[in-house]
Amino acid sequence: MKTMTSQLIQQAKSTTALDLIIQQLQQVRVLPILVADDEQQAITCVATLAEYGLRAVEITLRTPNAMKVLAAVVKACPDVCVGAGTILTPQQLQTVQDTGAAFGISPGITPTLARAAADSSLPYFPGVGGASDLMLAVEHGFNVVKLFPSDLVGSTKMAKALGGPFPDVRFCLTGGVSLESTPQLLLQSNVLCVGGSWMCPAGLIEAGDWNAIGQLAAAALRAGQKNS
Ligand code: 3PG
Repeated sequence: MKTMTSQLIQQAKSTTALDLIIQQLQQVRVLPILVADDEQQAITCVATLAEYGLRAVEITLRTPNAMKVLAAVVKACPDVCVGAGTILTPQQLQTVQDTGAAFGISPGITPTLARAAADSSLPYFPGVGGASDLMLAVEHGFNVVKLFPSDLVGSTKMAKALGGPFPDVRFCLTGGVSLESTPQLLLQSNVLCVGGSWMCPAGLIEAGDWNAIGQLAAAALRAGQKNS
């Protein structure tokens, strides 16, 4: 039997899980990015973000304990759409899927990772920084991608320019996004959402100031809805 191409596999996958995540991002339009090394702090932070309306979150794999943090949050917060960021290798992708995470995100794209992600059932958003990355992403069936680092690669100007050759692609802008820049960035028609760490700063997490994080989440939600 002939093996299916990655693109065909991607198309044939149940679209439900991916579509639901995309729908959620489309509604909220702001994805908090959490860098945490302590399981309990991360659980409380994610629960707070959700309580204030941000019900999808990316947990980065940037700390020594990140995979355990991810697994703990997935288990403790079943009503939140918990994804993993900073996926750099197919092995990490598999481990993320094993935690039960809802989706995976990478800061960039490689042929090996793109193939593994296309062959996996985990909803996945590769990272792109320009047209060649995007060609690789589209070749593997991905049409919602992270544009990273957004502020350094041209942000909405880049998204607009890439919208010419890639009219079906939508972007999540992350890297240097702020509360102030969010409403303007979301005006670009092919920008699905923005993501950033400004809603859960390390200092507030360390201090356990969940009220302040709740206020940041509420403000981010308002910014995301401003022009919707
Ligand atoms: C990411 O992983 O997308 C970024 O590091 C988040 O960038 P920020 O810290 O500038 O929001």
